[in-house]
Amino acid sequence: MTPSRALNRVSQTVLRPRPTHLPQTHLLRTPFRSISVYGYEQAKALTFPDYGEPKDVLRLHSHSISTPHSNLLTLKFLASPINPADINQIQGVYPSKPTFTTTLGSAEPLAVGGNEGVAEVIALGSGVKGLKKGDWVIQRAPGFGTWRTHAQTTEDGLLRIENTEGLTPVQVGTVSVNPCTAYRMLVDFVKLKPGDWFIQNGANSGVGRAAIQLAKLWGYKSINVVRKREEGMDALRTDLEGLGADVVVTDEEVMERGFGEKIKEITNGGRDEVKLGLNCVGGKLVNAMAKVLSPHAHMVTYGAMSKQPVTLPTPLLIFKNISFDGFWVSKWSDRNPEEKKRCVDKILNLTREGKFKDTPMAPIHWDATTKQDELVNAVQGTLEGYRSGKGIFVFGET
Ligand SMILES: NC(=O)c1ccc[n+]([C@@H]2O[C@H](COP(=O)([O-])OP(=O)(O)OC[C@H]3O[C@@H](n4cnc5c(N)ncnc54)[C@H](OP(=O)(O)O)[C@@H]3O)[C@@H](O)[C@H]2O)c1
Repeated sequence: MTPSRALNRVSQTVLRPRPTHLPQTHLLRTPFRSISVYGYEQAKALTFPDYGEPKDVLRLHSHSISTPHSNLLTLKFLASPINPADINQIQGVYPSKPTFTTTLGSAEPLAVGGNEGVAEVIALGSGVKGLKKGDWVIQRAPGFGTWRTHAQTTEDGLLRIENTEGLTPVQVGTVSVNPCTAYRMLVDFVKLKPGDWFIQNGANSGVGRAAIQLAKLWGYKSINVVRKREEGMDALRTDLEGLGADVVVTDEEVMERGFGEKIKEITNGGRDEVKLGLNCVGGKLVNAMAKVLSPHAHMVTYGAMSKQPVTLPTPLLIFKNISFDGFWVSKWSDRNPEEKKRCVDKILNLTREGKFKDTPMAPIHWDATTKQDELVNAVQGTLEGYRSGKGIFVFGET
């Protein structure tokens, strides 16, 4: 390149249209994106130097990313949710640990928050073979650090979304954790057949909503336990029934005497089996739920939202042979990468066909003008219960 052309490149900034094959969504507020033609991306990331409460440790860090070469590629994030596990990871109490690194140009090692999201490939080195510009990708494993505008990486940790038609970034950016967890728990522990029941708590969570919908599609019946709330109980019941919930009860009702009889009535005098329980919450509620399970049923724990331990009632183990299991989608995905891809594809196909709805979201728009406090407050707010929508960063012009 001649010196004058190079100079021209440094001094210019162009507006690049968004590829037309990508679904337009109101959540991406602008169809244009400015980049330096020289190839440097001005990136920002929500980072933490040490474990602690999100409000105390999260900082917005700016850095630049150079043109990718050889097997490197540059990603621009489109949407990244704030999941409960992300908070636990920042607090240092999650088994999957983030990487603290100085590669973002900081003096002290920083980790980037977030484990799930969707990004667009915007530039790639000549050694990248399996991806092209404009592709959407999600992360194969947790620990990537998805709360950032851009990242430079290699293709091995990324899963390409083959068909993005009809899908929004929010739908793709939230497919890999909650819907896949619900999917696997419904098929991997018990062989349910149409007409069989399962019972779950945290039924209005992302996982719970996914389980209701998949169960409905597959002909299984669901008993859905939610926390009692003073306001909005009827609306929540209607909401979950709209997704396909057969029965919606509060945690208080489950703990009351007579709940077993109620379930007997619902399940054809106890002749229809309740073969599976899904536990997102923990505490004594789980015992009450386990009591209505049929002999040889499984109670699968995947979350601990109440932070209360599960104590196992021995008669259920001895006389009913109830199994208490655990599920962690990260470990499952590590061990079953191909099956994970199939699971993601199936959910996205159902979404595209209008048969699977994403969780109600509370988008936090992140663009060049977004302040650190807005982002940090959104993360901290995730710890509060009774929320109307899941926090998700939706990236605009950065
Ligand atoms: N093991 C795995 O592989 C795996 C995968 C995905 C998710 N998870 C876990 O599953 C859980 C739900 O995740 P999500 O993303 O689906 O959650 P989410 O959509 O953010 O929903 C949170 C759920 O937790 C309930 N909740 C909040 N605080 C609570 C408390 N103190 N006591 C009882 N319930 C409470 C909420 O009920 P209210 O509306 O009443 O507040 C809501 O149902 C988390 O623990 C997450 O880490 C595990």
